[in-house]
Amino acid sequence: MKRVFVKTKNVKNFITMMNNLQQRADGVPGMGLVYGEPGLGKTQAVNWWAMKNDAIVVRCSNLMSVRWLLSEVVEELGEMPYYSTADSFKLIVQKLINEPRVIIFDEIDYLTSEHNVIETIRDIHDKTNVPVVLVGMAQANTRLMRYKHLYDRISEIVRFEPFTKYDLNQILKELAEVELTDCAIKYIHSKTNRFRQIVKIINKAEILAKANGLSTIDEIILKEVIKDETTDSEAVETTDKIKV
Ligand SMILES: Nc1ncnc2c1ncn2[C@@H]1O[C@H](COP(=O)(O)OP(=O)(O)OP(=O)(O)O)[C@@H](O)[C@H]1O
Ligand SMILES: [Mg+2]
Repeated sequence: MKRVFVKTKNVKNFITMMNNLQQRADGVPGMGLVYGEPGLGKTQAVNWWAMKNDAIVVRCSNLMSVRWLLSEVVEELGEMPYYSTADSFKLIVQKLINEPRVIIFDEIDYLTSEHNVIETIRDIHDKTNVPVVLVGMAQANTRLMRYKHLYDRISEIVRFEPFTKYDLNQILKELAEVELTDCAIKYIHSKTNRFRQIVKIINKAEILAKANGLSTIDEIILKEVIKDETTDSEAVETTDKIKV
């Protein structure tokens, strides 16, 4: 499989959102939200954008406290965290005022019940005015609505949508090192429209093509390739990262 970052429609919407956040007028709040079902490419998109734009990405974790979150941000800023959370917070504010950088919190679902952590993220935004982007699963939007002060500051929202056939064609064209017939592509689209699943299918198709000296994979061969895969319709969504 080619190691290429595909600019899907979701990615393009995300880039537009980030441009809007960075170029917003004075007085417009600068928080953003990205959400959507698992495996649609949210993390990949934010990491790709962060690399290009010198942004900070913090992956939230289960049981993350304010101290832990602040330590992660401080380390991403290239500093040593203080023992005192107040000192770490002040350091972050000072650094970001002197040298503004976008901060992205991935897997925000872990923190949607952690009132103190969520309000600390809002405080970082209020004190520094840097764009702060939260990334989470499909329910993140409704869960964050409970935090009225925070939600009020969200001026840009992008929902990552399942792929259309057009997206799928683009992904297969850019990533697959084996040709797939139109019928095979149609079959993949009927089985899944998530990046993670698509990548697994391409991988299996390429292995099979190599082992059998095939340059093209059709629907019949593909059915063999993915017969053991769990597809979207059969997949049970994981909710264990969400606390109610
Ligand atoms: N734009 C892209 N270009 C190429 N490959 C991608 C792209 N986006 C995602 N992928 C592939 O799909 C996989 C899943 O993507 P990713 O982890 O970003 O999904 P996610 O939406 O963050 O999922 P989750 O909600 O489970 O965290 C990646 O590991 C990568 O292999
Ligand atoms: Mg992710």
